[in-house]
Amino acid sequence: MKIGFFDSGLGGLSVLNHAMREMPGTEFLYYADLDNVPYGSRPAEEIITFARKAVKSLREEGAEAIVIACNTATSAAIKTLREENDIPIVGMEPAVKPAVAIAGDKRVLVCATPFTLREKKLHDLLQKYDTNNITDLLPLPKLVNFAEKNMFDAPEMKEYLAGEFGKINPADYSVFVLGCTHFNFFKDTICEFFPKGMRFIDGIEGTIRHLKELIPTEEFHSEGMTAIKFYFSGREVTDRETLKRIESDFGRLQEMVEIKEV
Ligand code: DGL
Repeated sequence: MKIGFFDSGLGGLSVLNHAMREMPGTEFLYYADLDNVPYGSRPAEEIITFARKAVKSLREEGAEAIVIACNTATSAAIKTLREENDIPIVGMEPAVKPAVAIAGDKRVLVCATPFTLREKKLHDLLQKYDTNNITDLLPLPKLVNFAEKNMFDAPEMKEYLAGEFGKINPADYSVFVLGCTHFNFFKDTICEFFPKGMRFIDGIEGTIRHLKELIPTEEFHSEGMTAIKFYFSGREVTDRETLKRIESDFGRLQEMVEIKEV
């Protein structure tokens, strides 16, 4: 069984990275919409159009289940995609519930794209789980661009984060919700701004757990080789230079997985 992953860009590799570990032997297809990234400040209709195209393309390549490895595309399009497709489609959402549960007497900071932070999906989650109003929202749209440009150590990126985190009081927070899959690339830098003991939470494990529940167990062939094909807005990636870059992104993400708290 082939499983398709879709993100506006390369942030969803953080979700694929986890799936590869959890589901060895699976054939994965990864669609990054590099012609249109970033999505985070676009209107919903546009994101829905892009997401439809991505799902269609992944299905044409044989995907029988799809992970929307993007919080923004999930907020905008998952309902439509599920209505229009008869295969399992799993999405991502900011992990508000577990974050609030472990916050103790401090606050929770949810960082995502402006789109995700505005959408009803998140506000419904907050209403349900953040009953004591301990959550604050901070958009960090430029981190998506920095990730796409491989700027994981750039002074401009650090200045940007210093400016954004200057708008809050980092000492107030015990939990940082990574509400955009691209933000996983920057956990090491984010740590520099927050006090010791602050924990990171993302929705990745829950998403892959859910995916596995939806797939018949006989579809797992853990003995076979894990295979991955990459597509940039539908075009298969074959050149060595780009595949090497993706490989190095996986390397970085694997290092970031180890960072669970400051
Ligand atoms: N990875 C997307 C997310 O999780 C980034 C959105 C964007 O392209 O702005 O929200």
